[in-house]
Amino acid sequence: MTTDVAPTSGFHGRLFGFVAPIYAKLWKPIVLGTLSGGGFERELQDILDLHRPRGDELMIDLGCGPGNFTTAFAKLAPKGFIAGLDLAYPMLQVARGNAGRVGASNTAFTQANAQRLPIRRDSVALVSFCGTLHLLPQPEQALAEVAAILRPGGSLVGMTFVKGEWWAQRLIERFFNRFLHFRFFPYDHIQTMFADAGLKVEGCTRRRLILLFHAKKPG
Ligand SMILES: C[S@@+](CC[C@H](N)C(=O)[O-])C[C@H]1O[C@@H](n2cnc3c(N)ncnc32)[C@H](O)[C@@H]1O
Repeated sequence: MTTDVAPTSGFHGRLFGFVAPIYAKLWKPIVLGTLSGGGFERELQDILDLHRPRGDELMIDLGCGPGNFTTAFAKLAPKGFIAGLDLAYPMLQVARGNAGRVGASNTAFTQANAQRLPIRRDSVALVSFCGTLHLLPQPEQALAEVAAILRPGGSLVGMTFVKGEWWAQRLIERFFNRFLHFRFFPYDHIQTMFADAGLKVEGCTRRRLILLFHAKKPG
C-alpha cells in the first residue's frame, strides 16, 4: 500500500478535507437525514442486514472518511483486519484518532484513490464502499478496481445515491448536484455498472434517495 502523501486535490478531496472535523457529528447526520430520513445507526444496520463480516477476513473500507464504518466492522470482526482508504488526508487523521479512541487495533488507514487501488488482486474478502461512489468522476473504474481486488466469492457492501421519483426529491437532488457535485444514479444504471464490473448484486435496500447494496464477485 502507499503511504500518505500530499493534501488532496480535486473538489471532493478539498471539500471532505475541510469538513473532516465536523463530518460525523454534523455533516453526515444532515446529509443522510435529508436524503434518507435516517441516521448512521440505521445505515449500518441496513448494511449488516444485507451482509455481515464473517471473522478473520481482510477487509477494505473505501472512502472511509472518519472511519465510522471501519471501526464498526473492526469491532464486529475482531480477528479480521480492515484498512480504511481515503483521498482526503485530514479524514485519515480523524479516522486514526477515532480508531485509537475505541481501541480498534485491527485497523490501518492510508491515502489512496478508489479509482486506482494499491492492493493485491484477488486478496480481499469484503469491501465496504459507503457514501463515495457518487463522488467519483469514473465510478465504473472504481467498481472494476473493487472487483479486481476482491477474492472470488468476496463481497462488496455500500451505499450510494439514487434518483428520486417525486418532484420534491428531484429538487433536493438538484441542490446537492449543483452545490456539492453529488451524482444521483438512475437505479437501472447502478445495476448495469455492477454487472459490467463483473459483480453480481445479491441484495439492495432503498431508503428514499439512497441505495444500500450487497454484491459478490462470482467464484
Ligand atoms: C461522504 S464521505 C463517506 C465517509 C464514510 N464512508 C461514510 O459513509 O460516512 C466520502 C469520502 O470519500 C472520499 N473520497 C472522495 N473521492 C475519493 C476517491 N477518488 N478515492 C478515495 N476516497 C475518496 C472523501 O474524501 C470522503 O472522505
